[in-house]
Order: sequence, then structure tokens, then C-alpha cells
Amino acid sequence: MSVVAPVILAAGMGSRMKSGTPKVLHKIGGRAMISHLLATVGSITDEEAVVVVAPGMDDVKGEVSPARCVIQPDAKGTGHAVKCALPEVKEGADTVLVLYGDTSLLSRETLIKMIEAASADKKPAVVVLGFEPADPLEYGRLVLDQKGDLAAITEYADADETVRKIGLCNSGVMAIRGDIASELINEISSNNAKQEFYLTDIVEIANRKGYTCTAVIGDEDELLGVNNREQLANAEAVLQRQWRKQALESGVTLIDPDTVFFSHDTQIGQDVVIEPNVFFGPGVKIGDNCQIKAFSHLEGCSVENSSTIGPFARLRPGASLGENVKIGNFVEVKKSRLDDGAKVSHLSYIGDAHVGADANIGAGTITCNYDGYDKFKTEIGAGAFVGSNTALVAPVKVGKGAIIGAGSTITRDVDDDALSVERAEEVQKSGWAARFRKLKARLGK
Ligand code: UD1
Ligand code: CA
Repeated sequence: MSVVAPVILAAGMGSRMKSGTPKVLHKIGGRAMISHLLATVGSITDEEAVVVVAPGMDDVKGEVSPARCVIQPDAKGTGHAVKCALPEVKEGADTVLVLYGDTSLLSRETLIKMIEAASADKKPAVVVLGFEPADPLEYGRLVLDQKGDLAAITEYADADETVRKIGLCNSGVMAIRGDIASELINEISSNNAKQEFYLTDIVEIANRKGYTCTAVIGDEDELLGVNNREQLANAEAVLQRQWRKQALESGVTLIDPDTVFFSHDTQIGQDVVIEPNVFFGPGVKIGDNCQIKAFSHLEGCSVENSSTIGPFARLRPGASLGENVKIGNFVEVKKSRLDDGAKVSHLSYIGDAHVGADANIGAGTITCNYDGYDKFKTEIGAGAFVGSNTALVAPVKVGKGAIIGAGSTITRDVDDDALSVERAEEVQKSGWAARFRKLKARLGK
């Protein structure tokens, strides 16, 4: 097996994003761009990636940990970035695989194709992944020779009209022969339009030295670079399309696929029906035969088989729902376990709670879990019935099978099978309303 050492470039300012956040931390499908790349790279090599970051990019370091980071003191270009990484790259690696942190949709299959091309008999010094985008924009252009080998990469800013007409573009993914990587990189100069050390120059350098360079062609959808928010949205759309297709193929009904949004790790069982306008943030797992009704937002939660969520429900991180649970409209659940058959059908907030099996939580029930400083737990026993508009002031326990009268504010634990009702005594004044209206009429109202 050949040793592939990945280097990911992430030190650029990403100024076109107009953002206070480093570009590679912007998310696609609920995950930072750079983490998509690390996951894909991790699936083809055991070598840990070296990530090139700018000084002060501690957030990026945190995101990519335990991958090693090297600092590129000034953003002097992609060639300079690779130069900074080389001392950290495993000695004796057969291939240095350079990836750009902003080109993160790359598939495992395409990387394997790159590695295969890099180990071809003619031992190419450099293999570049090219693509033919519908709109070639300002991508670098791949110039091929008569044999179809790669003669040069010309950056858009330095290209003349003829070269700009070339449709084959540089994706930024490059496999460099490990034994000559530093020799080639060290010859890059900054004599160009942007006065940067372009990594892309190593193709011409290698050719000049008599080595061969080749191109592998990849799919546009995988190779879109993200330089601005519009391209970020385009990349998101590509992933969402893939994930919707995968969901449909795996036995999930999406009534209007284009309105359902998944995250990179969304797991959905068979025969789940998802109505329009549903959003899955990261960390959601749905069992079989569930229904997720329209306009629901789920994140960091798990739902077991045959449960119904929504419409207009919000499941926040730590919501764990058993089988046959019902969460109705305008219900928010956070960090709470609802056992099998529990029902919260309307207008409730359930936070930091445990709701036992088959308990029924009436409309408008709120767990008052926060006193402005700390969070407290609410325990509701199996089979309990909590009347509408109850405030459960945590910490508090409602026993198994207990009944809470509607409109109660419960601050003390309720025993199993007890009735607890907290309400001022109701007063009824006969004829009062009629007298009131008569008085108003006399005043001309
Ligand atoms: C680059 C390529 C271009 C290609 C395009 C594909 C070069 C010179 N140009 O252009 O041929 O078509 O990507 O998307 O390589 N970076 C650093 N340090 C630096 C500069 C950049 O780490 O000093 C990183 C950036 O964080 C980014 C990546 O390298 O992740 C690419 O840099 P970027 O400025 O986006 O290059 P492009 O102009 O898109
Ligand atoms: Ca770019």
C-alpha cells in the first residue's frame, strides 16, 4: 500500500465571504467545510492530515483536532502554504495529497481515482484533479499538451483570452510525488499578477525538469470551490440534493423533497413520512414508521419507531423520544426523555424532564426548569395526566398515575395516583354580566 500524506490548506483569509469566521468553518449540511474534507480524507488514508492555518485561527485548530496544524505566518499563496506544511509531512510518503479547505464536497471515489493516477506506471510528478464547470468563472485553467498530459495550470488573473476560453479548470486537488515534492515546491516564485506563490506553478516546473504531469477529470458538483456566500449556498444545495435522493432510495417518503433539509449525519428509518418544510440539524436519528409533519425543526435528538412529530414542533438537543410518542403542534422539547406512548399534543415546553410511558401532558403545560441561574429537573411518572395549562416548577416530581388539575402551578411533589390541583376558588355572581351591560348601555356605550 502506498503512503498518502494529506495536506489541507485553510490559511486563506476567505475575504470574499465577508465574515468574522474563517472560511473553512462555514458549515455545509450542518458541518464545517473542513470537517467534511477531513472525514473524506480519513476514509482513504490512515495518515493524519496536516492542516495549514493562519496565525490566530484557534477555532480552526479546535475543529480539526486531533489533526496537526501548521501555521503559515502570512497568506503568501497556496504554494507557500504547502511549503509551510512539508516539514510536518510524513517522511517517505509516496504521495502528498494537497486539498483546499474550501473545496469540501469531494468524494472518496474521486480521491481514490487520484491516488490510482498518482501510482500509474509513468510515475507522474503531479496529478491534478480538473473539472469542467458550467461556468468556469475565475478558476485556474488546465493547459494540456498534444499527448493529453498536463502542460501547465494558468491562473485566471494571468491568463490571456485564449487560455480563458479553456473549459477545463483546476479544482485545487493535487497529488504530488512525495520524493520530489520539496524540490518542486521550492522552485515556486511569486512572479505573477497577484504576487503570490501559486501552487499551480509546480506543473510547469515539473515539466521543465522533464517529469510528467497528468490530469484526472472529476464531477463539477463535487469540486465547486466556496469563495463567497453564493457559492456556499450552491454547495449546500448540491449536498441537500444528494441526501434527499438517498433518503428516497432508502424508503423514506418526502412529500416535497426540495423543502426538506438534512444534516451530514441525519439517520432516518424505513417508512418514515416527512411532510414539507422540515429541517434536520445535526445529530438526529429517527426510527421506522414515524411521521414528521410539516414545519418541524429537529436537532440533536432521537425518535424511536412509530412516533409522530409536529406539525410545527421543535425537538432540541437531548430530546429522546421512545416508541409511539406523540409531539403535537407548537411543542418544544429539550434535553428530556419521553418514554413509549407519552403524548404532548399541543403548545408545551418540556425541558430537563423525564416523562414516563403513556403519560398525557395537556395543552399549554410548561416545565419551569430555569430560575435565572440554574436548571432543574421535572419527573413525570408513567400514566400521569397533566391538565392543560399546568406550570410544573422544577425541581418537582409528579407520581405515577397522578392527575393534575388544569391551570395548576405545581411546586411540590405529587404522590402516585393522587390528584393535585392548585387554583383560587372560583366565584360566581348570578346576573352580574347582564347588570354590567345594562350599566354600560345607560352610559351610552
Ligand atoms: C485556487 C487555485 C485555482 C483553482 C481554485 C479552485 C491557486 C493559485 N489557485 O484559486 O487554480 O481553480 O483554487 O477552487 O492555487 N490558502 C492558504 N494560504 C494562502 C492562500 C490560500 O492556505 O496563502 C488556502 C485557502 O484557505 C483556500 C485554498 O488555499 O482554502 C485556496 O485558496 P483561494 O484563495 O481560495 O484560491 P482560489 O483563488 O480559489
Ligand atoms: Ca477558492
